[in-house]
Amino acid sequence: MTMYIRKLLRTTLAAAVLLLSATSLFAAGRSEQTAQRSITLYSGRGESLVAPLIEQFEAASGILVNVRYGGTAELAVLLQEEGDRSPADLYWGQDAGALGAVASAGLLQALPDELFALLPPLYQSERGEWIATSGRARVLAYAPDLVEGFTFPDSIFDLVDRQYRGRVGWAPTNGSFQSFVTAMRVRYGDGRTQEWVEGMIANDAQIYRNNTAIVEALGAGEIAMGITNNYYLLRFLADDPSFPVRQRFFADGDIGNLVNVASIGILRTAEKRDGAVEFIRFLLDTAAQEYFTEMVYEYPVIDSVVPAGVLESFDRVIEVAPEIDLDDLEDLEGTLNLLRRAGAL
Ligand SMILES: [Fe+2]
Repeated sequence: MTMYIRKLLRTTLAAAVLLLSATSLFAAGRSEQTAQRSITLYSGRGESLVAPLIEQFEAASGILVNVRYGGTAELAVLLQEEGDRSPADLYWGQDAGALGAVASAGLLQALPDELFALLPPLYQSERGEWIATSGRARVLAYAPDLVEGFTFPDSIFDLVDRQYRGRVGWAPTNGSFQSFVTAMRVRYGDGRTQEWVEGMIANDAQIYRNNTAIVEALGAGEIAMGITNNYYLLRFLADDPSFPVRQRFFADGDIGNLVNVASIGILRTAEKRDGAVEFIRFLLDTAAQEYFTEMVYEYPVIDSVVPAGVLESFDRVIEVAPEIDLDDLEDLEGTLNLLRRAGAL
């Protein structure tokens, strides 16, 4: 081999190595860029609801969303365990209490003020570390055939009345029910709340595993009334308009009409804050708000979006809702203890 060829080979080799490392540098640069255009979401909202929205967001923004699904309370606990090591940028939960608990643990960061400017006061968090994405109300569902001769209770406190003995269904293990109990504690104190829970048990309230089971039991004539969230019956009625169950609110302002919110916050340790803010803005935009109300009969949190036809108007919701600060619903542990003491769990 001549010197010349050897030199040429060396040069070619060196060039090849250079090319190779340039390629891998380029690849590294690209994957870094891809990583920047992705966010990690812990979602306590169900996959069937969230997945189609995520696809729309990814297509519109070019940001990839890694989702970890789980129960709202379960993910709140996980975030507290993970602390600073959590890969999550966003936490989206079914109710304000869970977001409040994560905020109180110091795990969330302040959100841009401009996001809050979009929401009416009913759905505001004073604290500014989480934001509502849709609303849902507690209601009294009932079987019209079975309540003849009944007086409808003005207040949820009246359900302990003898005339309702054995006729009312509830779901003590349900997260929305427990959030409502927290609201009752905040407004009336632990003593009166425990008295109500014990009164319900003494009045032979029928236990169901969840809200769907309550509505099914009403349809089957097992019970005359049940306390549930507004959207369950609406889903049954969408499938079968003759389903023999209706629903109503307690008197205006009663705690039994608690209006809670699914809500979202950005983790203090989030590495992708910009993408996370972009995702929240997407959820508060007209298309996503219309999706929530049309698909699952929740209330839009943006008052320019019209609630689904089967829902009450925004103004009516303001009338029926009890005055409660949604930032105060974080003490789930205290509620679980009270329910255990009273014998409901
Ligand atoms: Fe629910």
